[in-house]
Amino acid sequence: MNFEVERKARVEKIEEIIHRFLPEEVGYQKTVMEAMNYSILAGGKRLRPMLMEETFHLFGGQDHELLEPFMVAIEMIHTYSLVHDDLPAMDNDEYRRGRKTTHVVYGEAMAILAGDGLLNLAFETAAKAFQSISAKTEVEELKQYKRVAKAIKTMAEKAGIYGMIGGQVVDIQMNSALKDREQLDFMYRLKTGALIEASMMIGAIIAGANEDEISRIEEIAGDIGLAFQIRDDILDVISSQEVLGKPVHSDEKNRKTTYVSIMDLNGADNEVMAISKHALNIFETLPYRNEYLKVLINTLITRKN
Ligand code: IPE
Ligand code: IPE
Ligand code: MG
Ligand code: MG
Ligand code: MG
Repeated sequence: MNFEVERKARVEKIEEIIHRFLPEEVGYQKTVMEAMNYSILAGGKRLRPMLMEETFHLFGGQDHELLEPFMVAIEMIHTYSLVHDDLPAMDNDEYRRGRKTTHVVYGEAMAILAGDGLLNLAFETAAKAFQSISAKTEVEELKQYKRVAKAIKTMAEKAGIYGMIGGQVVDIQMNSALKDREQLDFMYRLKTGALIEASMMIGAIIAGANEDEISRIEEIAGDIGLAFQIRDDILDVISSQEVLGKPVHSDEKNRKTTYVSIMDLNGADNEVMAISKHALNIFETLPYRNEYLKVLINTLITRKN
């Protein structure tokens, strides 16, 4: 398998799916649609829809048309979290995904509204999965309704105050007080882990995985998310704006406590490795295989952007 070729093909497919669900830029409110499209079409790795789709395939998912609205919805929520994260009141960053941030181009008020718009549109989009339900039998149809409903519930919980927003609250409010690893892990598992958990869990749910399988996926995804955020801290120190598409030294600027500040680069690197290996070990206990997904998790350990 040529991983890079495979990855590019997947990103292209995801881009095509995202395009199908974006708002048309019309009406008196068209500026907000432009700002939403500006931020979501700036690129990005599309990691969350990719993890969702790969987990769906891991469990032999069949109903891809039910999955597609969720692939887009999770990327909308992720994008909104970035638009708000970059605002002057939060991390105050002016560059994202290789472009000026949304508030720099459209102003703060419109960036706040574009974020709000993306969050709402995510649920409007996910709910479209109900319209794609079609099965040969009533029993099968009922199963699909239940899966879509459970996926929406999961997305709502993981994006909210018990998930991503909760983590951002701790990041903003308690950062200077955060000292030890336990508190940092709590924050990372929420602010970054939760949406990765939602992504992989929804892939499993729509594919029809059972409760035990879904909770193992949640655990794997939680580890991937934690490792992903520690790697993000490392890249903030060692990378460049050209490679990352966002400013470096943002954490230092905002006096953030990070894994790099509580240990050192080497220690943080080792944590990324150990936590990712833990995820891969649980992955191996599942009675299914997806070679691409396994390689993807491995490449995240040393990712450059
Ligand atoms: C950035 O996420 C925010 C974090 C959770 C660290 P990504 O690194 O996935 O950003 P994009 O989607 O590729 O721009
Ligand atoms: C952000 O963490 C996580 C979100 C929920 C947006 P960071 O603030 O470190 O993300 P970047 O470095 O700006 O992408
Ligand atoms: Mg932040
Ligand atoms: Mg930030
Ligand atoms: Mg960061």
